[in-house]
Amino acid sequence: MRSTFPFNQGWLYCAQQVADSAPDSSFVAVTVPHANVILPYHNFDDEEYQFVSTYRKHFTLTEPLNGRRAHLEFEGVMTAATVRVNGHTFPEHRGGFVPFTLDITDYLNESGDNLLTVVVDSTERKDIPPFGHTVDYLVFGGIYRDVTLKLVETAYIDNVFVKPRDVLTGAPYLEVDVTLRNVGAQKRDLSIYVAYGREERAEQSDGWTPSPYAVSLEPESTQTVTITLRDLPPVELWTPVHPQLYRMVVHLSNEQRATQDRKWVRFGFREARFKDDGFYLNGERMQLVGLNRHQNFPFIGAAAPARLQRKDADILKDELGVNIVRTSHYPQSPHFLDRCDEIGLLVFEEIPGWQHIGDEDWQALALRDVRAMIERDHNHPSIILWGVRINESWDNTQLYTQTNALARSLDPTRQTGGVRFFLGSEFLEDVYTFNDFSNSIVEPEHTPHLVTEYNGHMFPTKSWDHDARRVEHALRHARIQDRARGMGGVSGAIGWCAFDYNTHREFGAGDRICYHGVMDIFRLPKYAAYAYLSQTPPQNKPVLQIASGWKAGDYDEGRTILPVRVFTNCDYVEAYVGDVPQGKFYPDRQQFPNLPHPPVLLTDLEISLAQPWNDLRVVGYLDGKAVIEQSVAADGVPARLEITADDAAIKADGIDMTRISFRITDHYGNVLPYAIAMITLEVDGPADILGETSFPLVGGQGAVYLKSRHTQGDAVVLATTPRLHSASVRVALE
Ligand code: GAL
Repeated sequence: MRSTFPFNQGWLYCAQQVADSAPDSSFVAVTVPHANVILPYHNFDDEEYQFVSTYRKHFTLTEPLNGRRAHLEFEGVMTAATVRVNGHTFPEHRGGFVPFTLDITDYLNESGDNLLTVVVDSTERKDIPPFGHTVDYLVFGGIYRDVTLKLVETAYIDNVFVKPRDVLTGAPYLEVDVTLRNVGAQKRDLSIYVAYGREERAEQSDGWTPSPYAVSLEPESTQTVTITLRDLPPVELWTPVHPQLYRMVVHLSNEQRATQDRKWVRFGFREARFKDDGFYLNGERMQLVGLNRHQNFPFIGAAAPARLQRKDADILKDELGVNIVRTSHYPQSPHFLDRCDEIGLLVFEEIPGWQHIGDEDWQALALRDVRAMIERDHNHPSIILWGVRINESWDNTQLYTQTNALARSLDPTRQTGGVRFFLGSEFLEDVYTFNDFSNSIVEPEHTPHLVTEYNGHMFPTKSWDHDARRVEHALRHARIQDRARGMGGVSGAIGWCAFDYNTHREFGAGDRICYHGVMDIFRLPKYAAYAYLSQTPPQNKPVLQIASGWKAGDYDEGRTILPVRVFTNCDYVEAYVGDVPQGKFYPDRQQFPNLPHPPVLLTDLEISLAQPWNDLRVVGYLDGKAVIEQSVAADGVPARLEITADDAAIKADGIDMTRISFRITDHYGNVLPYAIAMITLEVDGPADILGETSFPLVGGQGAVYLKSRHTQGDAVVLATTPRLHSASVRVALE
């Protein structure tokens, strides 16, 4: 039978390339996922993480091999990894975005100590995608995703691809591709048995193979067999609202009918199709509203543990209200994708690359990436499209004919896209995925058409830019979404981008951040976040955000009548200045005829310098009832320091983290974007702050990560700032 051992614990790390003879004292103890260096969230140089480092792990097998093979699986090492086991060196793995597995059996000491070494090259190697030219993002370095040790029999299940078919007919069925490998010298006569059921049930009780499926495996061979399950009991579809998941188990039995391998995979029944007139999920036209996501976190680069990966998906769904994310520009964490499956967030996933296509070897890696991405992720119901071009590269008929053919052969159930940025580009894919920086949406020249980027560098906006710019930033997002909805043949639009991200000197504001997010790098909202969230149905949750600091002097020419935008999904709002009613205001359907919930414009709000400046209060109504309200203080004086943790408890495993965010607000709780104050953080308890403990707030808010040690208990984070009461938050380490 198969045994699986998580291998994230007990690593040693040295920020240099050292020989196996170097003493352990040259290393520090670390837990994976690990960043080769902790950086400030901005104002650093990418050279600071571009170096070669060494990871080491001493281990013994906790179970005898009993003839099994030992597979060491790396989910992602940035950017190239040379693995050594007890002095044997494996060929270098190039590329940090896809997993790789090594069979280390022949070099193991079964009954004694083993020395595992990973030399990690985190330089921007021109021979590896995305490098070779400039790139508008940073990839960071380290063993930044999970590591696992698996012991498998010599004949084992290598991969399982569950393909739900005809799901919208009365006779859905499942096609299950089981890929088996026999690395032994004997021919094997094995049998396969599969069963599936709803994920929340303990047993796979909805369907199974009536009799074992016999398969003969030649020595040293790989074979994919397809098993079809028909006559399924009624299936529950996977939808964004009700993302029903199923689990399938595949048993592989040996000649004596004893189970010799078993593998579980998760899947969902759904049909995703781009057609000439738009995108259809389960036969219904669905307008795609999305944002691009980089896997970049402040301080830790790409080395975020499962909890933070999952949280990003939740933020996209719950705090931004989008229904699709593009994993720009590479395959992202399996934890992120798992969460997308669980919450019903659609995904467009693509291969690594940015504008540049390298030589033949480089292109071979791009093809390898197509295969690795699809073979890793084909069971995620959330993924509806494979991106098989290098983002924004020029046409390359030969390469893209190959990437498309490969994707279609590996996964005949999904369409291909490939992100281009110029019209007239050769259409070899199934969906014309187009980065449209026209500040509008161009008429599609091919259908199906999906806009995969807009805004971004056309209007970079910081959380502490003046009010008018932050409002215009939000309106630009709203305008494009409005236009996308109004155009036939456009399946939807995915904006650039969800979160601010670190970048090279050629891009961004010079402090190594591209301020293109609708949220900042800490995932804290700018006004533009509400341009998205306010499009969600009020039945989910009423939304009302005043996009104004309510400070006339922050506008050019010293306005006395402020144009105040409110992002809301309410039917209408009522506004008050002090106690004086200003009237009812309705969604601006003239400017935004196609949005479900256009922003509201409050006009003619009287501000007279003859009277004291008063607070603004806006009340949102649904079906004639007041359901939500927000007030903004006129005085502008910081009233409170607030601190929150995303999680009340995290695991005491030395790597789990939660975000601790803090903000200075007015007395109604609105962030004051110009409260540029020093926050000092202290932790009492067995946890550490990753990030800065003396933190100059920008945009009135900021965040750090609280990371566990291997000790249980409680950690209290205390934040202090001059002139306000301190604030604290408690996190349990379990
Ligand atoms: C696009 C590119 C993105 C990002 C964006 C900024 O051209 O695909 O990665 O650089 O511009 O707006």
